[in-house]
Amino acid sequence: MEMGTIADASSRRVRRQVPWICIILGAVGILMFEHVAAGAGSGGDDGSASFFDAKAQNAAIHNLQRYLRLDTAQPTPAYASALTLLTELCFGVPKMKTHAHSFVRGKPVLVCSITGTDRDAPSIMLNSHTDVVPAGNLSNWDFPPFGAARVPAVMLSNAQSSDDHIVARGVQDMKSVGIQYLEALKLLLRQQPNRTFRRSIHVVWVPDEEIGGVDGMGRLVDSSLFTALNVGVELDEGLASPTEEFELCWAERRPFWTRITVSDAPGHGAMVPASTATLTLVQILAHVATYRQEIVEQVNSGAKELGEVVSVNINHVHAGSADAINVIPSHAEAILDIRIPPFVSAAQVDELIASWMPCTNCGIHVSFVHRVEEGDETSLDENENPWAGVFARATSDLKLHKMIFPASTDGRFVRAKKIPVFGFSPMNNSPVLLHKFNEHLGTKVFLEGIRIYARIIEALANAPPLPHELSPEQAEGEAEL
Ligand SMILES: *[C@@H]1O[C@H](CO)[C@@H](O)[C@H](O)[C@H]1NC(C)=O
Ligand SMILES: *[C@@H]1O[C@H](CO)[C@@H](O)[C@H](O)[C@H]1NC(C)=O
Repeated sequence: MEMGTIADASSRRVRRQVPWICIILGAVGILMFEHVAAGAGSGGDDGSASFFDAKAQNAAIHNLQRYLRLDTAQPTPAYASALTLLTELCFGVPKMKTHAHSFVRGKPVLVCSITGTDRDAPSIMLNSHTDVVPAGNLSNWDFPPFGAARVPAVMLSNAQSSDDHIVARGVQDMKSVGIQYLEALKLLLRQQPNRTFRRSIHVVWVPDEEIGGVDGMGRLVDSSLFTALNVGVELDEGLASPTEEFELCWAERRPFWTRITVSDAPGHGAMVPASTATLTLVQILAHVATYRQEIVEQVNSGAKELGEVVSVNINHVHAGSADAINVIPSHAEAILDIRIPPFVSAAQVDELIASWMPCTNCGIHVSFVHRVEEGDETSLDENENPWAGVFARATSDLKLHKMIFPASTDGRFVRAKKIPVFGFSPMNNSPVLLHKFNEHLGTKVFLEGIRIYARIIEALANAPPLPHELSPEQAEGEAEL
């Protein structure tokens, strides 16, 4: 998820663990892992157990840890190291070819592909971003944010299961997902080494999502490379869920970053003009606060989800000068971060903003730092979007909660190209820890996610020609059959 604010970076070092504690923890970890592996062997109705044994599971966790140990935090992500490691990991998947692209110097995009048997069929794109948000104040972490420690659940205050957990910045957002795509493909190709996929599969690694994605996915979708990839459907990030349900994001809110400036006559601070720029701004912001309180109540009462409301925060306010306290300033300014669900139109938001204004022709000027007119949705109705049916059948054994992602992801760039995007990170029974301290993920959830992706990827990549992919003549032929 794109970050709102950059957490403060502290120079404080994480307290070093004394070696004997590490040894004991390591031993406990190994014991617990054996337990998990033994338990996992009995699960799965797809006969994958023997193809996903303790050795394969351990290798998957190890690959995740290696990726997490690269400090790819903004603003100085170690993209070169990530490119080297991810290229190596992609080479570990049979039949996978890798291509690195650089649309912006120092910001690589890696595309790892398995070519489908039907080269003309629209492909499957499995996306993840390689950057993470800063770790923030290190003294708030119980384990080093780029150590990727594997710790027993009892060492964490908010673990929801008793298996080992991996603690690292980015384990939920979203390095686990990138590794899961690769491990799911490896699992499928271990089950059936000669397996082919009808559609090409592109595992894509993009930079800069956490700072808006303009130099990452933004550049990719406008490139000739993207046209050549011929993407039919994309998977991108979702959210963890503390319940049994998995989150499935079919849209996201879009931003209106709104600047309100007020101009009025300057004056001496001892005078009392009927109106001043700052007073007018305060009146506007009072209306914003009243509106915001209604939204807070709707969300806190559960009447609406965050993704369903037009939210607002007053994130910048400026007027006058602390060096001129006896001067009534002629200008006052505020910037609002407004987020809008796709079913609310730009005109409706313009009306809402207008309703906050206490007067007309009184020096108020509204402009936009950033304004996205329309939000794109991915229909989950199979009749409108055949991919929704394919996805639903592949996940029929999972409880899904369909939601609008409250902030932004790279998925919006792909949806803007009218390509369906499922925002899905297979993390249920997990606290939502993205951008938080001690970000962690249970190994059991991580491994189960690999099995889930194996089913989804297999279903998407072998989907027969879908109605919208057929030419009119082909569609007629299908109808006759
Ligand atoms: C980091 O957090 C610790 C503990 O809460 C606090 O004492 C310290 O001042 C913080 N450091 C910074 C740079 O904010
Ligand atoms: C897989 O392909 C190889 C080489 O083409 C062939 O020798 C082998 O019999 C195939 N295995 C199966 C299970 O089809």
